[in-house]
Amino acid sequence: MSRIHSQIDTRSEPFAANRAAYAEQVATLRERLQWAIEGGAGRARSIERHLARGKVMVRDRIDMVTDEGTPFLELSSLAAWGQYDDGFPGAGIVTGVGIVHGIPCMFVANDATVKGGSLAPASIKKHVRAQQIAEENRLPTVYLVDSGGAFLPRQDEVFPDRDHFGGTFYRQARMSAQGLPQISVVLGGCTAGGAYVPALSDEVVIVKGIGRIFLGGPPIVKAALGEIVDPETLGGADVHTRESGVADYIAYDEAEAYAQVREIVSTLNQPRIDQPQPWCDVAEPRPPAYDPAEIYGIIHADARNPFDVRELVARMVDDSDLAEFKPRYGESIVCGFARIWGHRVGVIGNNGIIFSESALKATHFIEMCNQRRIPLVFLQNTSGYMVGKESEAGGIAKNGAKMVDAVANCTVPKYTVLVGGSYGAGNYGMCGRGFEPRFLFTWPNSRIATMSAETAETVLVDIRLGGLKASQTTEADVARIRAEVRQQYEQQSDPYYATSRLWDDGLVDPVHTRDMLGLCLALASRQPEPDARYRVFRM
Ligand code: COA
Repeated sequence: MSRIHSQIDTRSEPFAANRAAYAEQVATLRERLQWAIEGGAGRARSIERHLARGKVMVRDRIDMVTDEGTPFLELSSLAAWGQYDDGFPGAGIVTGVGIVHGIPCMFVANDATVKGGSLAPASIKKHVRAQQIAEENRLPTVYLVDSGGAFLPRQDEVFPDRDHFGGTFYRQARMSAQGLPQISVVLGGCTAGGAYVPALSDEVVIVKGIGRIFLGGPPIVKAALGEIVDPETLGGADVHTRESGVADYIAYDEAEAYAQVREIVSTLNQPRIDQPQPWCDVAEPRPPAYDPAEIYGIIHADARNPFDVRELVARMVDDSDLAEFKPRYGESIVCGFARIWGHRVGVIGNNGIIFSESALKATHFIEMCNQRRIPLVFLQNTSGYMVGKESEAGGIAKNGAKMVDAVANCTVPKYTVLVGGSYGAGNYGMCGRGFEPRFLFTWPNSRIATMSAETAETVLVDIRLGGLKASQTTEADVARIRAEVRQQYEQQSDPYYATSRLWDDGLVDPVHTRDMLGLCLALASRQPEPDARYRVFRM
């Protein structure tokens, strides 16, 4: 392997200016993450009431279940940001991977301080996404249930469709059938559909005094049957552990419940986080030779100025070592073998526009990684595939398609980080969301859209001037179209807009990315060898 020799002068003025600009972006990210934890209209009162009831805050609950000193990989923390009148910080649900007795588990935990833990459209999407990750990475799932169920004012957006509320129960049932344990702790209301979360679990703990499970709450029972009954008698811990058998264990407080969950997990007979399978090439981890915090100074404050993706790789991979593949060919894509936290990976990073040769090189490299059973890490920073007469004549469409095809069909685990622009079909070839990377993270400087705002302005004006309405279009119309399109593209390509809508698994600080990828790779390394191979065609 050869160590990347950084060309960055960390004492230069541009470096300091970039670093200062990026520090502001990171400060904004931290502020918004903090808002997801404790912000939102009327939230302070909800939190106060929650604590006054002797209940534990959602992240502390997860902390009480997981092994001391182990990381929690929280996902999509800023889901719903800027939506629903800012009424759903974090979409009212915390999801992520935590370690219990060395076994990685997916956590799906309602935040009862956000609209009673009820589920808005983004909350359902986040719940479903956590289950998809659990299924693909073969993780047991722990549900910490404290929820009012479907957010009723938006019931048409959360109830009926395939990936809505019903889909969460479908996944729960299917995962249990696949031998992926489903465990619930009932810490609040589980009403109507919500009752199926514990009812479909392999094992259920319910906390006396706060946990309630019923298909119809007291008001419905009164309306339907004229029966008057209090919630505890109808669906409390006593009735469910003694009479109905809907729950298996009673806990007299939350701490006892989490100790019981830990005991359940200790019996699951699932692979530990530190048990890589023989197909995985894992070595002793080594830190990068260059400080990951230097990434702040490498990314230009003005996004139009390019940077060499090798400089990022040098700050993300072990010992900054990269065995680069075809370094003299198709130079706008950098491919090479490296390690992240000891795990062998194939890195594919953009240095701008993707040309035919770059696409062919990447295709060849993906084939090799698939053949050798090496997971792939994509670092996206591209305005897309090259357009123009020469490029079309050179077959960019078919060469780009080879890359897209290789990404779609390779069976090794794939991970994607948006480290800059993610535009057009470049998003596809570089393993965007549609290509099902196991995890996809974005950086605060990233942008995602069909094309940049500048290009979109020109394209849409040209379409108007070439169409039926051309003769009636005034200069004022053109100016208005330009302004509207720019505003739309700038708003919609913003990474907060993207993360709010779950187009990623989290907007993250570049400095933490290596550690996050290390954990994600460790999850895959416990799994059986991927099955299909295709031969390596020279491109
Ligand atoms: N849809 C919409 N809003 C809901 C909701 C739901 N399913 N469940 C709770 N909320 C809202 C409340 O309107 C309230 O909003 P506000 O703060 O803007 O006034 C907030 O969440 C807190 O609810 P509240 O009832 O004050 O809290 P609580 O802790 O006393 O009770 C529940 C929590 C979940 C037990 C209770 O709200 C409840 O029973 N909700 C309805 C459950 C239900 O019937 N669900 C059916 C879904 S299919």
